[in-house]
Amino acid sequence: MSKEKVIRKDIVKQEEPDYTSKEVSEALNSTKQQSSKEKELTIKDLPGVGAATAEKLESSGFRDLMAVAVASPGELIETAGVNEAAARKMINAARDSMEMGFETGDALLARRETVRKIKSGSSAVDALLGGGFESSAITECFGEFGSGKTQIGHVLAVNVIKEDPEAIVVYIDTENTFRPERIKQLAEGAELDPDETLKKIMVAKAYNSDHQMLLAEKVEDLIKKQGLNVKLLVVDSLTAHFRAEFIGRGTLAERQQKLNKHMHVLLKLADTQNICVYVTNQVMAKPDTFFGDPTQAIGGHIVAHASTFRIYLRKGKKGSRVAKLVDSPSMPEGEAPFYVKGSGLVDFS
Ligand code: GTP
Ligand code: MG
Repeated sequence: MSKEKVIRKDIVKQEEPDYTSKEVSEALNSTKQQSSKEKELTIKDLPGVGAATAEKLESSGFRDLMAVAVASPGELIETAGVNEAAARKMINAARDSMEMGFETGDALLARRETVRKIKSGSSAVDALLGGGFESSAITECFGEFGSGKTQIGHVLAVNVIKEDPEAIVVYIDTENTFRPERIKQLAEGAELDPDETLKKIMVAKAYNSDHQMLLAEKVEDLIKKQGLNVKLLVVDSLTAHFRAEFIGRGTLAERQQKLNKHMHVLLKLADTQNICVYVTNQVMAKPDTFFGDPTQAIGGHIVAHASTFRIYLRKGKKGSRVAKLVDSPSMPEGEAPFYVKGSGLVDFS
């Protein structure tokens, strides 16, 4: 342990000279002058970040200035092997270089006007959400097995293409439950060409939580480098890998830290790219509950807080499903019963 620390310190010494804050601001000012747009800066432009550190940061998911700007010093110390002072300088420099600040209410309102709502097929479910599944937001569905979480993911994929033929869907499948046959059936129900619809859905299987996190980070590349018009990102299931890999109390903090990072990638995608992010989540038994529903969502407050809309799904009467809105920024809590049919979601009547 201590030996490792000594080795790390050597690396730090070679790579991370102890910059004064004046040097940091000068370095940043000069890079700012070179290019007035912060978007063109990369983490390599941060003072004290050499090629080796940049590589370590990038391989740990810190791919842009925003990731560094919102990181904690502890995360950078751990991933890049830098000392605390260097980590703080990197974070402050990244923050200084970005417009991480305030937006006027009217600018926000103008941005809200670009928000689209993907219809589910059930008018009751759409009404619950104020018109449909919103872009620029994360909507989480949690519920027991067979409650319809995956089905909703498939339905949204088809419906967003129905509403916008140019739309591309990215589907991160962690449980191997994406079914192209089901997409074809839904596309037929929506009077779309089934094969053309499938071509607009990009599916990636995530084999573990790291892979899942990496895939989510790659979505930005699909948009920026490949120019894809991604309108919907499905992560089904958001939590299954995390739950399976981090077992026992001792690993909880690490799991939550990783989940937090993942959620922030999703939030940033939703917010900056105006994407509708739909994630599914399992429930676990809450044995100490005497009243109400004895289940609770996985992922605790990290997933709960990052999700803009939260829907609890359960099985209802006569094979129906019930969606209950449990958290939303603007809609009252409520319930909507619906059926999953061959053609998609339909109202319970
Ligand atoms: P887990 O992933 O196991 O936690 O469950 P889930 O919530 O994702 O359940 P899912 O969305 O897979 O829902 C399964 C239910 O949807 C089944 O019990 C069926 O009632 C219904 N369903 C699944 N496929 C079809 C289909 O092709 N046609 C119709 N009509 N219903 C389907
Ligand atoms: Mg499922």
